[in-house]
Amino acid sequence: MGERTATSTRIDRATGGTRLRRLRQNDWTRRLVRETDVRVDDLIWPIFVREGDGDAHPVASMPGVSRRSVAGCVEAARRAADLGIPVVALFPFTDPSLRDETGSEALNESNLVCRATRAIKDAVPEIGILCDVALDPYTSHGHDGIVRDGVIVNDETVDLLCRQALVQARAGCDIIGPSDMMDGRVACIREALDADGFGDTMIMSYAAKYASAFYGPFRDAVGSAGALRGDKRTYQMDMGNALEALREAAQDIAEGADMIMVKPGLPYLDILARLVDEFRMPTFAYQTSGEYATIMAAAQNGWIDGEKAMFESLRAFKRAGAAGILTYFAPRVAEAIHKG
Ligand code: PBG
Repeated sequence: MGERTATSTRIDRATGGTRLRRLRQNDWTRRLVRETDVRVDDLIWPIFVREGDGDAHPVASMPGVSRRSVAGCVEAARRAADLGIPVVALFPFTDPSLRDETGSEALNESNLVCRATRAIKDAVPEIGILCDVALDPYTSHGHDGIVRDGVIVNDETVDLLCRQALVQARAGCDIIGPSDMMDGRVACIREALDADGFGDTMIMSYAAKYASAFYGPFRDAVGSAGALRGDKRTYQMDMGNALEALREAAQDIAEGADMIMVKPGLPYLDILARLVDEFRMPTFAYQTSGEYATIMAAAQNGWIDGEKAMFESLRAFKRAGAAGILTYFAPRVAEAIHKG
């Protein structure tokens, strides 16, 4: 701390002698008192599956991310399990010829997600699989539900979502992730799962999911960007609202959600912290495609240190109280953690 001066006396009087910098002196002191850290066990890795075999198809707006064949997904799941990542989340790029008004491909027992789920369960039984419930990768209009006279109809959509969840559970999905934001869907999905003998299948609800600009690259990846007519503001949440997130989460929990999620992540850390504080549920953050792309783009330009920004963003979620994070960085983080 150097020499004692008149200022030292003044500071001691003001702080009562507490010098917070004392604990920041060395790497070891910082490590010793660190309150939160990202662990491999906290990670859920979203991966994109597409038809065919052959080469991976890179997603231009998500450097380092590609759409994989079913076999490629199995390889990714193997790698994830070897790294200790507990869960992979599957998202399909559905061929445009299979998309229709009602997203009927979502109910096809051998659609891409179901085939990838079965193949992964077969080859890598020790990893968890999360499947998104929503119609947008399957509809010709890019909406998460059925559209009638320009309106996304809630209850009929929920009927389809229940059937989609069942199709996924039968394929071997462990965690159903309703990302559609229809009202009442968690209760209906829970009931449908229980009635069909899937009482152990978990539900991680996208409890507070905002209508956000940060989903852009994801919509490129699943091929719904060009298709989307209008926006999703009649079902995804208004970004100005926090109290409403408490109501959304309370409903999903009352309806039977085992885990809840906040999405996007970093711009909504306040929501995450409030939900954790209020409900004390396992609460997850989704570091969305747009957040990933933002960090990657700045890093590729040499404007930020990508590795440091990656860790800083993920640690922020843990500090805010997240039980875990869905992140496209998952394998990279896991490797970095193992290297130490
Ligand atoms: C589908 C869904 C979306 C994401 C996850 N599930 C897109 C959307 O709601 O438009 C976004 C994920 C990301 O941006 O990484 N309903």
